[in-house]
Parts: sequence; C-alpha cells; structure tokens
Amino acid sequence: MDTEIKQEYLKQMGIDIWVRRNVEPDNLLEQKTISLEEPLPHSVSKSDEIVLQPESYVETTSEPAIENSSLYSDYDLDRLRNEVEQCQKCQLCQTRNNSVFGYGSDVARLMIIGEAPGADEDREGLPFVGRAGKLLDNMLLAIKLNREIIYIANILKCRPPNNRDPQVAEVEACTPYLERQIELIQPDVILVLGRVAAHYLLQTDAPLSRLRGTQTVYGKRSTPVVITYHPAYLLRSPDQKRKSWEDLKMVKRILSKK
Ligand code: URA
Repeated sequence: MDTEIKQEYLKQMGIDIWVRRNVEPDNLLEQKTISLEEPLPHSVSKSDEIVLQPESYVETTSEPAIENSSLYSDYDLDRLRNEVEQCQKCQLCQTRNNSVFGYGSDVARLMIIGEAPGADEDREGLPFVGRAGKLLDNMLLAIKLNREIIYIANILKCRPPNNRDPQVAEVEACTPYLERQIELIQPDVILVLGRVAAHYLLQTDAPLSRLRGTQTVYGKRSTPVVITYHPAYLLRSPDQKRKSWEDLKMVKRILSKK
C-alpha cells in the first residue's frame, strides 16, 4: 500500500507514530509500521523506529455463547436474505426503508458483527456505509485485512428509529438470522463491535471495558471472538482507538495461526 495512504489511515485511527529524526519516515513505515504478522508488542525494543504503545491482551475462554439457528437450519444465504427482506417479525419493519442483511464473502474468514443499521445503512441496504463505516474501513485497511476475507453483519437487520438501542423483543426476533449467517459462513474469527453485539453474543451484561481485551469463543465450532469498541464510539472517543488497534492485531494474529 502507498506509504502516504497508510500513514493517513494510521492517523485516522489516532495511532501515534514516533519516528527517529535521522531516518526517513517513508522507509520506516515500510519496514516496521505495524508488524501485524508478529506477536503483540508486549515489550518495545529501543531499536524500533515506530513504536506502538504496548498493551497486554488477556486470553481467556468462557462458555460458548448461544447458538440457536434451528429456525432457519435449511436456509442458504440467498434464501435467508429473501426472508429478511420480507420480515415483519418486529415493529422495525414499519419504519425501515431497507433491511440490511449483511455484506461480504460467503466464505469469509473474518466475520464482523455490529449493532444495527443507521440512517445511511437503511438508505443503502448495506452495513457500515456511514461515518462509522468509513472509520471501520480505515481500520481494516490499516491492519491490511483484505475485504475479500470479511463478512459484515449486524445484530438487527433493520434500523431502530432515531438510532435508539435495540429492544429485547427486536433482538430476539432478529438474531436467528445472524446465527444462521454465522453457521453458514463458518468464519475463523468473529470481531464484535460494541456493547450491544458483545452482550448478545456472549450473553452477558458486563461493561464493554471489561469484555474487551479478553478472548472468548462462540458456538459449537468454538469460533474465537474478539471484542472491541464500536467505531461510532471511537469517533466520539478517539483516545480509545489505540485499544481497538490492539484488538485488530489480535484478530490478525488469530487468523495467521489458522
Ligand atoms: N452501526 C452498526 O452497528 N452497524 C451498521 O451497519 C452501521 C452503523
């Protein structure tokens, strides 16, 4: 990737880059920018020209989260999408312009799960196309996660009015679709964005600050789950971007081991 663009992505993410004064920044970026293939930098060598602040990443496992897609167990993705387009299982069907089924490769290695469509997504029928989506794109590009190996979906397929939090009945009605998507795609890693998705997938109401930085598994296949902040939250709290960066590196590390 072009160095300037890469630098811009890192800037967008709020990742500070320290550069030794006597070294050309361009070369440094190519050499060491973010060595994503390497283990997480628990200690930082003095010879590193570009240094990410280290942060420990606690690996824990917990009971597999729920898995309950029997409702749609004989559906493929096309049929499931069709079902979602016709869905009237909750009140959100009355206010949606478009349902937002999900987007990406049917054989994605990484599945990203957000909360619910916003106004832009409702208009376009695609997930993460608004401001938060742009930040997500930049984060994925910065970590060199190729879009072709990614599938993005949400807990809810329809937009809650005024972007309010999803209601319990809406989550209950909608998540069998998501569960079937996960079952069909069989990702190697699930990246969970934000509190709502984390609470559903892990069946907990622990604060996100406690959940992120830990690693857990989902479902019968024990798919590793990495939890991170929602990009919309990062737009409001850019000082948390560094932690997200650590989470994305964890994703990359899991993928490289599989
Ligand atoms: N926020 C989400 O959680 N999902 C989207 O698709 C867009 C914004």
